[in-house]
Amino acid sequence: MVTRLAVKKVFMQTFGCQMNKLDSELALGRLVRAGYCVVRDKSDADVILLNTCSVRQHAEDKVFSHLGALKRLKEKRPGLVVGVLGCMAQKEGRKLAKRFDIVDLVCGPRRIADLVPLLGKCNGSGPVVAVDGDRRSGNRAVSFEADRAVECRPMKHHAYVGVMAGCDNFCSYCVVPYLRGAEVSRPPADIVEEVRRLADDGCVEITLLGQNVNSYGVGLEPKVTLADLLAMLDPIDGIERINFVTSHPKDLTRELCEAVAALPKVCEYLHVPPQSGSDKILGLMKRGYTSKHYREMLTMAREVIPDVEIAGDFIVGFPSETEEDFMRTLSLLKDAEFLNCFVFKYSPRPGTAAAELEDDVPDEVKRERNQRLLQAQEEISLRKRRALIGHTVEALVEGPSKRDASRMTGRTRNNYIVHFESPGNLAGRLVTVRITAATPLAVTGDVVEQ
Ligand code: SAH
Ligand code: SF4
Ligand code: F3S
Repeated sequence: MVTRLAVKKVFMQTFGCQMNKLDSELALGRLVRAGYCVVRDKSDADVILLNTCSVRQHAEDKVFSHLGALKRLKEKRPGLVVGVLGCMAQKEGRKLAKRFDIVDLVCGPRRIADLVPLLGKCNGSGPVVAVDGDRRSGNRAVSFEADRAVECRPMKHHAYVGVMAGCDNFCSYCVVPYLRGAEVSRPPADIVEEVRRLADDGCVEITLLGQNVNSYGVGLEPKVTLADLLAMLDPIDGIERINFVTSHPKDLTRELCEAVAALPKVCEYLHVPPQSGSDKILGLMKRGYTSKHYREMLTMAREVIPDVEIAGDFIVGFPSETEEDFMRTLSLLKDAEFLNCFVFKYSPRPGTAAAELEDDVPDEVKRERNQRLLQAQEEISLRKRRALIGHTVEALVEGPSKRDASRMTGRTRNNYIVHFESPGNLAGRLVTVRITAATPLAVTGDVVEQ
């Protein structure tokens, strides 16, 4: 008698940052090569994986509520395997499986390379837990994996490329250095080879990822900087655009800005979060710069890179933040003229230095400050986008618009979102669009040239 093993169907849901999106893609690639099939609906799946984020309590609460809902699904289908991957898995470890008895696998971000054998051990006889005890272990694993499964690339024309993993900055509020481990840069030759392969596979745009991407190269021999890496990637045929995130203000050098300006494929867009405009708060956050330094960095970047657009993040309600501190933040936001700005309410993370300080800003004050920053940014965002009305821009098409499938969405080199009517799916193509309307989030126009 011939027994046939049924193909295992796997469903992955990803929370958190781009790093997690990349990890999910690479993890699914490994599973597909091991014979699993990826499904889009969790009710079809034999294995459900949640790739999780711990950066704020809210991110964790979302996963807890998903796990609550999965309990019912598992009651109906006892053979279902549930795995928690990523930062929350590393943070919570075995506690997660204790709290949720439906969890079969807990796998930290630096263990995702072992996902296939780990799932093989999930046989219903108790949870499998794979997390790193030490910051220095593991960081060569999945992020540095060069062979990706073509069928798992979410977008044909775009790919994330991990250039470094971990973070050594230890900003006082942040849990990432504890979960992603020590900072390690990937050798440039590996990255160049991966990007060549992506280009051969039809990829035209890459985004280089690192928690602190502009410190790329620290510890590598011979010494190499992000500017050097960009210069190595720029000549690769087929690649049209190169982006990198996230930059730390203290490491944003003139040399890097000059490389962005000089290299034709490197896009004029920087994400450089200031986090606060108050020097007292920046000191408590251990960010390593002052508000004056941040403003000087912005001026330098704008002088060196024509048409550059900059995005920022702020945290409001950090311990001891007064109205005066907040006004300094508001004033920095107004002066910075960001293209986009993300604003987060401070969320104490156990184990971080800031968690030792009293979380003394009431939630309603955090919410109100959050609203005030977002409102001020909305005015700037709208003004910047309205200024494009009547002009033509070049956009790289991403695909059909999420809100209205009859329209396509693309981005300019400096990261403006552009919507336009299109006769067909132009994903991956460059189009010229004359802008006719603007909202704080996007501009709309008509294609004048494909
Ligand atoms: N490495 C990147 C991003 C880290 S996490 C950087 O340094 O910029 C993304 C954003 O989450 C941060 O920029 C910060 O604004 C926010 N963040 C991190 N920890 C937080 C916390 N404990 N509470 C609220 N927001 C936080
Ligand atoms: Fe967190 Fe700071 Fe590292 Fe960013 S640079 S990941 S905010 S510790
Ligand atoms: Fe979240 Fe981990 Fe990214 S905590 S923001 S998924 S590095």
